[in-house]
Amino acid sequence: MRIVSGIQPTGNLHLGNYIGAIRRWAAMQDEAECFYFLADLHAITVYVSPDELRSNVREMAGALLACGIDPERSVLFNHARVAAHAEMAWLLSCVARIGWLNRMTQFKEKSGKNREGVSVGLYSYPILQAADVLLYQATHVPVGEDQKQHVELIRDIATKFHNDYGQEVFTLPDAHIGETGARIMSLRDGTAKMSKSDPSDMSRINLIDDSDTVAQKIRKAKTDAEPLPDSFDALDGRPEARNLVTIYAALSDRTPQSVVEEHSGQGFGAFKPKLAELLVETLRPIAARLNDYRAHPDAVDSVLERGAERAAAVAAPTLSAAYKAMGLFARH
Ligand code: TYM
Repeated sequence: MRIVSGIQPTGNLHLGNYIGAIRRWAAMQDEAECFYFLADLHAITVYVSPDELRSNVREMAGALLACGIDPERSVLFNHARVAAHAEMAWLLSCVARIGWLNRMTQFKEKSGKNREGVSVGLYSYPILQAADVLLYQATHVPVGEDQKQHVELIRDIATKFHNDYGQEVFTLPDAHIGETGARIMSLRDGTAKMSKSDPSDMSRINLIDDSDTVAQKIRKAKTDAEPLPDSFDALDGRPEARNLVTIYAALSDRTPQSVVEEHSGQGFGAFKPKLAELLVETLRPIAARLNDYRAHPDAVDSVLERGAERAAAVAAPTLSAAYKAMGLFARH
């Protein structure tokens, strides 16, 4: 089992990232060889000032370390430091088809009505993502639900490469999606994903929110007047209620069904304070560790540098094999 996954260093980590991905990344470190990276080359697909990007990379690396990613057990790096990602992305962009990219829902959402005005990088973004994963012969890619389509595309690109060039250079990876919390929703609208780009900060819990802010956001979270039923399935059609139960279940490592059973008959007036308490207990130690890393940016940089060296060594033979399979004379 080889695990590879990444996150864009844009703004803060929120609860969706934590439950859908990072918490699971940390748990998988005991089971497999893990490569985790900050997708800084993806972050520049939308303009970001160089100072802000530098600060986001350090901040997000500190946040991953604070969430329990252990650089002794996992390889943690930023992918701009490993040139193989950009090189492999070019090779794969000559294999991927335009029609495949046109089907990517994330591009449609991000470009909206401004399709002609966004960067070419935003469009070819999933090809770089394919390079990120294929370079390391990943077997599993732990992600939230919203990345499933991108991981399926990676398999399509690898399969076409194998068919075109007659050599099995890559491992076909599977998306590894959590049973609970693969899609955490906005606290203001249970039909919209919790996201960094939502203009309302009340829609999400940030990992650095202090206890009062967390409590206030949960208190104000949209719900309905009905009490909790005795089965999770009975929450169909009540997306906000379903979301809060899911968050509680994910953070307490329980099934949503057992959470509903325990609170059956209670209204949200009783459930919300318990959820807020669980969140505060989960986030407090993370925020404390993050503050330590903020005070030691050099230590964070050296973790990333060492991670990049290790990553580059693992990526090199696959990149070489891809050049060779395509008939390119390369320096490798
Ligand atoms: P990004 O930075 O948008 O999100 C990082 C991870 O968090 C998950 N996630 C969520 N999970 C549950 N509920 C939510 N509301 C929620 N919001 C975000 C995402 O699914 C993701 O797992 N393209 C990727 C980064 C990337 C990558 C890769 C991932 C680049 N290369 C290679 C895997 C493999 C992205 O933008 O994730």
